[in-house]
Amino acid sequence: MNDMIEKPLLRVLAGETVSPPPVWLMRQAGRYLAEYREVRSRAKNFIDFCFSPDLAAEVTLQPIRRFGFDAAILFADILLVPIALGRKVWFVTGEGPKLEPFNVLDFEQLTLNQTEAVLSPIGETLKQVVPQLPDQTTMIGFAGSPWTVATYMVEGGGSKDRFKTRVAAWEHPEAFDGMMDRIADVTAEYLIMQARCGAEVLKLFDSWAEGLPEPLFERVIIRPTRRIIDAVRAAGVDVPIIGFPRGAGTLYPRYARETGVTAIAVDTGVDPAWIQSVLPQGMPVQGHLDPAALRAGGAALNSEVDRLLDSWEGRPHIFNLGHGITPDVPVAHVEQLLARIRNRA
Ligand code: CP3
Repeated sequence: MNDMIEKPLLRVLAGETVSPPPVWLMRQAGRYLAEYREVRSRAKNFIDFCFSPDLAAEVTLQPIRRFGFDAAILFADILLVPIALGRKVWFVTGEGPKLEPFNVLDFEQLTLNQTEAVLSPIGETLKQVVPQLPDQTTMIGFAGSPWTVATYMVEGGGSKDRFKTRVAAWEHPEAFDGMMDRIADVTAEYLIMQARCGAEVLKLFDSWAEGLPEPLFERVIIRPTRRIIDAVRAAGVDVPIIGFPRGAGTLYPRYARETGVTAIAVDTGVDPAWIQSVLPQGMPVQGHLDPAALRAGGAALNSEVDRLLDSWEGRPHIFNLGHGITPDVPVAHVEQLLARIRNRA
């Protein structure tokens, strides 16, 4: 029983039901932690921060030390892949990410040969974190999915409804799909590198999967995700992969069946009983507490935690939020959440 301590999160991803479920939070390394803000203030800017293995490793470990979450998630950002593709990316405080808008007709200019050169510091972060993790803590690596990354590239930053990107996908299908293939190939290489540097699980964030008609969903979400997973598997990387097509709604089951993911993460809007009935038998599910309930705390938080635990009883479940933790969440609410999950008999 000593050198064989099994990690609860890996057991769930292998299809086991673990009670209480393992728990981690999206954006668990972030501004709601004073110790994060302190380290953040030492970096010149956010991109520099991500590319500084010492700082990134430190903030990856902070929430593990403080809360003992079941997983550490690599501190980085989904917008590092556009940098590897040769695009400029910067962050404006209070406004979020900015990129030089990209014309999909120029897709052949995206660089495929700089992945290792640009992204190796991220591998370095993983190599620093892994030996410092408690035995029961799982290391998660991640990347953005091509559609979500493409929306930032084409729009030049965040946008309300990704309209320009959707127009480009309909108007120039060949160039658009060519761009998606390039993003997918660099992303696959990046994920393979992460696994080789110690990531035990990989997660694909498709934060803007919402609102797409089925033919587009198939082209820009399912096909590129499948392409990444096929490439990762072809490289001999067999770690579990969690897919998070946020806002996919009724298309979640197709995503779960057709992309090759091991598990799916669901957003706050998904009815747990419905997803339970439409997911492939035994597929692990991660989610999906409302970040606003965590912010609110008190009785509302307790009853939401109970409802989620009850509704997924019998299904392999990783407890998490339906989207990232907000900077205004009191640490005491995170403690309350963990106590509620872990003290349920
Ligand atoms: O979850 C984690 O703790 C790991 C690190 C992580 C970050 N971003 C750190 C971060 C992860 C997994 C991401 C993913 C990410 N980044 C997504 C997908 C998930 C989602 O939230 O939908 C997206 C769309 C991005 C792009 C991005 N990065 C945006 C839109 C912003 C600005 C929003 C904001 O809160 O300011 C970021 C910045 C960012 N990425 C921060 C953190 C901790 C905050 C920046 C800071 O500390 O100054």
